[in-house]
Amino acid sequence: MTRAVSEPGAVLKGLGEPQRSGVQKIYHSRDLTILNVIWGPRMTICPHNHQMWAVIGIYTGREDNIFWRRLPNGKVEAAGARALCEKDAEPLGHDIIHSVTNPISRLTGAIHVYGGDFFAAERSEWDPETLREHPYDVEKTLRLFEEANRQ
Ligand SMILES: [Fe+2]
Repeated sequence: MTRAVSEPGAVLKGLGEPQRSGVQKIYHSRDLTILNVIWGPRMTICPHNHQMWAVIGIYTGREDNIFWRRLPNGKVEAAGARALCEKDAEPLGHDIIHSVTNPISRLTGAIHVYGGDFFAAERSEWDPETLREHPYDVEKTLRLFEEANRQ
């Protein structure tokens, strides 16, 4: 991933300049998912886990990650953060919980690789207001990308 995003121009040439917010499948199987994720301006998605390893690489724009840890009361608390810029790559462990914000006023393009079936895995998200855990809703997340386009 580090090598791939070290030449953002080559990635843009291969995937095309981001035109709208969305999640494009580059590769999808039971044991590997590769996505081209285009974040809308200032878009945020709530804390969630993946239950599989992942690697994120930014080829245009910015992606701010907050990392969360579980508390005994069922909530999560912020545990760390990483500001990802163009050319940055970040590995995420199997159990990581993160939320993502595109902090800038233009589209951000990132390649996300997951060590499993991103769309089928059983996992959780945490309510952005109460920080309480509930089942992850992949359709809801995909709708957020469409809402970002309308805005
Ligand atoms: Fe994620």
